[in-house]
Amino acid sequence: MAIQLSDQPLLEWAGDSLAIALFEDAVELTGELASLDEKFAGILKELITEEEFTGKVNSTVFARVSANSPVRKIILVGLGKNEAFKVETLRRAAAAVGRIAKKQKSKVLGLSFPLWNNDPTASAQAIAEGVQLALYQDNRFKSDPEEKASQVETVELLGFAGQEAAINKANQIVSGVILARQLVAAPANSLTPITLAETAEQIAKDHGLQIQILEQEDCEKLGMGAFLGVAQASDLPPKFIHLTYKPEGTPKRKLAIVGKGLTFDSGGLNIKGAGSGIETMKIDMGGAAATLGAAKAIAQIKPDTEVHFISAVTENMISGHAMHPGDILTASNGKTIEVNNTDAEGRLTLADALVYTDKLGLDAIVDLATLTGANVIALGDDIAGLYTPDDALAGQIEQAAADSGEKLWRMPLEEKYFEGLKSGIADMKNTGPRPGGSITAALFLKQFVKDTPWAHLDIAGPVWADKENGYNGPGATGYGVRLLVDWVLSE
Ligand code: BES
Ligand code: MN
Ligand code: ZN
Repeated sequence: MAIQLSDQPLLEWAGDSLAIALFEDAVELTGELASLDEKFAGILKELITEEEFTGKVNSTVFARVSANSPVRKIILVGLGKNEAFKVETLRRAAAAVGRIAKKQKSKVLGLSFPLWNNDPTASAQAIAEGVQLALYQDNRFKSDPEEKASQVETVELLGFAGQEAAINKANQIVSGVILARQLVAAPANSLTPITLAETAEQIAKDHGLQIQILEQEDCEKLGMGAFLGVAQASDLPPKFIHLTYKPEGTPKRKLAIVGKGLTFDSGGLNIKGAGSGIETMKIDMGGAAATLGAAKAIAQIKPDTEVHFISAVTENMISGHAMHPGDILTASNGKTIEVNNTDAEGRLTLADALVYTDKLGLDAIVDLATLTGANVIALGDDIAGLYTPDDALAGQIEQAAADSGEKLWRMPLEEKYFEGLKSGIADMKNTGPRPGGSITAALFLKQFVKDTPWAHLDIAGPVWADKENGYNGPGATGYGVRLLVDWVLSE
């Protein structure tokens, strides 16, 4: 599918479906729209009154124009109230239109959307992202690859001539989001530590990144006892992935993105029981997926910031050589951990990944992890939890969330709750009491970052959408890629 830009007048446009975006309580047909209504024998007016279209946010109506008309269908999409207009409104409206065009099997789609904030670049980028993300269909595991596939071939953005750079950037970002979705959606018998490392190598090769994959022996030498404790029950080798993007010249900032990379989480000997969603635990590498998706996008966008992309990848399995509940592990910073629950494995793998990253001497680290069910209980399926002791970094990430439309909410890192992780025999336990479980998980991670400003995002909710939700779902969302790209490009 290709996005095209044109300054063709609305009245002259020809194609399968023409979509017009309108604000709430401002659906009067004046100017160009009045002429268009006339051209199509009053169909716009009819559509608005008969369907009671008031322009409510994300509402859509459509009608077929007469058989041999140059436009086959008219779609109206609501933008909500003008006062509440955000760039995200455009992204979602474009997604809503995309979904209709897909159902109607349109090939050529035209969009007549207003500018947000008088900013054609941000507007074109958001529209191009929204429509492509909504149209994406993952048929890799279907015997019929055409099943339910979108037939949209061309999307024309009317009034956006000259915005090629914005479309390029949208395409680069979307390629990263789609990669992340594919990685999350791929089942654990297809996406393993080995194939995930191969994917990272492919990204490095395609887009000119440096790559280092640490094998088990390398991790042993570095003393990564927490990561390797989780990995020891698997028949598959663990892989520690480190991709680096270096700009030409002196970098403005040096950043790291660290992702939890559990290609499957059975829970270990504290095995996940019935109703625990064990069959969905292929998604437990959503942090690593966002990390690699961001790497793919950033390598194409080429900002003047150095970025490290890191993931300690393994599966959490059971076998005769599995960790026993109660085992004591030593992480690569020398701290000892009593594993009172083998299902709190993500924080163990992240502990060594964070110690490694902290030693790189960078300006900031953001980790993303499908870390706790408790975060989902607190914030639901759509909103990630942000945990950081650093207000400046929190501000940067909150801004990136607002720009990208990827929702998050800052949670407290209540130091007192660390008491729940005190161990009588080791430096700490890996699991505290059930109340505040996402906070103690974040406090656990904090023990492994000494020198670098750090923020943690618990993405256990938004990594997956059960139903259609804006430009996401049903299925893997690719949450985090757009947020991370926005963060890296900021300042
Ligand atoms: N991968 C899970 C968290 C998770 C839950 C992700 C639901 C996505 C959806 C994590 O490893 C886990 O098992 N966490 C436990 C921690 C508990 C043992 C302290 C949890 O949340 O129940
Ligand atoms: Mn677990
Ligand atoms: Zn997990």
